[in-house]
Amino acid sequence: MNRSICLLIIVCALVFPIRLMANEPDSAYVFAYGNSPQNGTRLAWSVDRSNWHLIGSKRMTGPSVSTSLEKEITLSGVTERGTVHKVAWHVVEELKNADLLKKYKEQLKGERAKLDPALFRDPIRAKLTLDTGKSKKISNQLIGIFFEDINYAADGGLYAEKVQNRGFEYTPGEGRRDPNWNHRKAWSVDEAKMTFRIDTLSPIHANNKHYAALQINEQGAGLVNEGFGGIPIKAGDKYDFSLFARSPEAKRGKLTIRLIGRNGEVYGEAHTKAISRDWKKYEAVITARKTINDAHLEVIPQMTGRVDVDLISLFPQKTFKNRKNGLRVDLAQVIADLKPRFVRFPGGCVAHGNGLDNIYRWNETIGPLEARKPQRNIWGYHQSMGLGYYEYFQFCEDIGAEPVPVVAAGVCCQNSSIGGRGQRGIPMCDMHDYVQDVLHLIEWANGDPRKSEWAKKRAQAGHPEPFNLKYVGIGNEDVISDIFKERFAMLFNAVKEKYPEITVIGTTGPFAEGPDYEEGWKFATQLSVPMVDEHYYQSAGWFLNNQDYYDRYDRKKAKVYLGEYATHIPGKHCNIETALLEALHLIGCERNGDIVSMTSYAPLLAKEGNTQWNPDLIYFNNTEVKPTVSYFTQKLFGENPGDQYIPPVIDFSDKQEHVRKRVAVSAVKESATGDLILKIVNILPVPVGFDIDPAHLGVIKQTAVKTMLHGQLDDRNTRPQTAQIEIDGRVETSVEPYSLTVIRLKTK
Ligand code: AHR
Repeated sequence: MNRSICLLIIVCALVFPIRLMANEPDSAYVFAYGNSPQNGTRLAWSVDRSNWHLIGSKRMTGPSVSTSLEKEITLSGVTERGTVHKVAWHVVEELKNADLLKKYKEQLKGERAKLDPALFRDPIRAKLTLDTGKSKKISNQLIGIFFEDINYAADGGLYAEKVQNRGFEYTPGEGRRDPNWNHRKAWSVDEAKMTFRIDTLSPIHANNKHYAALQINEQGAGLVNEGFGGIPIKAGDKYDFSLFARSPEAKRGKLTIRLIGRNGEVYGEAHTKAISRDWKKYEAVITARKTINDAHLEVIPQMTGRVDVDLISLFPQKTFKNRKNGLRVDLAQVIADLKPRFVRFPGGCVAHGNGLDNIYRWNETIGPLEARKPQRNIWGYHQSMGLGYYEYFQFCEDIGAEPVPVVAAGVCCQNSSIGGRGQRGIPMCDMHDYVQDVLHLIEWANGDPRKSEWAKKRAQAGHPEPFNLKYVGIGNEDVISDIFKERFAMLFNAVKEKYPEITVIGTTGPFAEGPDYEEGWKFATQLSVPMVDEHYYQSAGWFLNNQDYYDRYDRKKAKVYLGEYATHIPGKHCNIETALLEALHLIGCERNGDIVSMTSYAPLLAKEGNTQWNPDLIYFNNTEVKPTVSYFTQKLFGENPGDQYIPPVIDFSDKQEHVRKRVAVSAVKESATGDLILKIVNILPVPVGFDIDPAHLGVIKQTAVKTMLHGQLDDRNTRPQTAQIEIDGRVETSVEPYSLTVIRLKTK
């Protein structure tokens, strides 16, 4: 796009001054009216204040004003009220150029991947050589993941807990779309035999205030949980049940725990000891006798009278790496298969929260489950915090990924609607404590348990060795306001001073351009922030036309973590089109791997029927995992990283712009294996025959492994296929229409 934009600007710059010299006055008028958060001020211009022409809209603080007066004008037959500003003529020209540029960019954004095959009459051939003299070191951490509790990604998702609302902490208002969202959500009793109310008088822990007070009128009555849309059980599998219970009755019985079907069929049963007068934890193991997807859990006190229960939990013993309080095996595995080099957590918007009270506090998510503080989820549900910081760090370790925790920059989300509107800052009088909380996170992760209280907590949880945390993200696509800047600087300076070895990742707002992006970069550069987190969800056309996005980045500034991105097409789903455009962008990131250190697609997970955001990388329900086509782009890049980039030189037989723009190649070397890896994206409707001469790279084997992901553009189900290819001095191979191909060659 760069070249075309430059051309456009040069043409405008050449034409307008000539007009100005010939017959324009040296000043003109700008009329500013309306104001919307998206579009900002609308603008029109006129030479003489009588004949107004619409320029468009701009987010602006106002053109340089010499006179200003309120006025009503008629624009395209509509009367608008606004202010008139007398400005130098060049201001009008600049606004007009900016508007032209905006329209041109919109046009590029609208482009789609589909092309008519008739445009390409002759077979396309590409001669590929690699410019070894220009090879450079690149990041070997390019592909990671961003895990956020959105779309039921944690409770009811990756977190293997089967009981919904186990602590009776669901609070009215949290579940935006559910009128039945309250402390009793997912629970039921037979009211004729047992009454059930919520009490807060003497809870197990102050952070977990609510519990169920049962009044049993008829022995045998049970309290039933429906799970997250049913509890899936597998014949022969064992499930760990636990709860806290107490009873003031003189005659106290044990508890019978059952896995039941819709009509009361019993699929597994276990018993606890008789319960005591005071809160105590009880445990039992249930073996499922049948495989069904929608069992319920029933807790039956063998007594009458009052029984209090809380934190009722059912966990499959089979969790990822058999961790207690662990993760769902199939979901964790599909994530691990991406071979992510890092995991960003907990958000996204979850990190900075809807309102100051909703800022994610890492230290409220560790320790015994009953002591963790559940929270309202910004996406309109509830976070039990069962999958908290400890589980997160443990998962990172289990899959060999670096943790990249994100803390709020002392501000809540700019889109907040609770407790006030918009971005707000933690009051300055509380900022000292907040800064300490962030420093404690590093101490908790890396400290010596013999010397540090925080590190001791980590050791008590089962991890005496340090987690070796290297990164901390501060902020999530925040508006770069003064409120933000003051607080970010406090946090950044404190971390830098106490833990200079930690790489702090700043933020440059929610978009790929615009005021927050510009101000965010300026601010990060002033502070010498080592890395910044960029976010952009863009159309197919944007990705097609911004392949050079990072080519023009200043190598002396902060490194880039592209923390959130995805291709959004109408219908908001993933298919071959989105997968290939993301691959195209990743080829650009790899080419710029000297400054683009990390990337993560967003969002990662979505539970069918519970999504607040589309598209997502992996969809799932209670029993199935459904990776999208975009997932396979991430996987192919994750499985095939390099640490050295060798610039490709391609000579196409067809010189059309389409070919240059839609066929891209990346060549990297992986030091650990010595492999040379070629990635080829072909977004043409015809195959491209590649003729590759790898001789000068010391390719030693006669065969190579070629993996290809291809299909029709709207294909949502295709999967990569792998084959061996013969090398006979040269590599001659064809890449399919609409494909991503990875070729691995063994070198000395
Ligand atoms: O990825 C979903 C959301 O998109 C993230 O929470 C937020 O950072 C962004 O707006």
